Amino acid sequence: MKIAIANDHGAVELKMEIVKYLEDQGIEVINFGVDTPESVDYPIQGLKVANAVVNGEVDRGIALCGTGIGISIACNKVKGIRAVVCSEPFSAKLSRQHNNSNILCMGGRVVGPELAKMIVQEWLDAEFQGGRHRRRIGEIREIEETGTVKEA
Ligand code: RB5
Repeated sequence: MKIAIANDHGAVELKMEIVKYLEDQGIEVINFGVDTPESVDYPIQGLKVANAVVNGEVDRGIALCGTGIGISIACNKVKGIRAVVCSEPFSAKLSRQHNNSNILCMGGRVVGPELAKMIVQEWLDAEFQGGRHRRRIGEIREIEETGTVKEA
């Protein structure tokens, strides 16, 4: 498993904790920064993770900002990205099983490091269940590509 990670100034410490947590499990991490509290724009950081995912450079991505919201919006503008903001493990797990999420977003000003690690673990362990969920992912792709869905 290879994971890309990036953050803005709102999640530097959380990012460090998560990188260590992943590497301790033998997971390869590409860290796009930032590693210092300098102010950076979350869309730029989100795009780095999203591109690494859609280019197949990594299996999945983690994107962090103050709330997780701005960076998730930016990630979701890239075709093929299904980025989810999670503040608890249940949604993280279901986002894999039902939505086949490929980027996990969290807020460094929202979740503490221990809760964040639980969220990450559930998200890493859960697999896409396919079936009816595959059809719905297909509909999302159709909206992405055509602006509508045939059934609508
Ligand atoms: C930056 O101050 C902050 O707006 C950003 O980290 C994030 O929370 C945006 O959604």
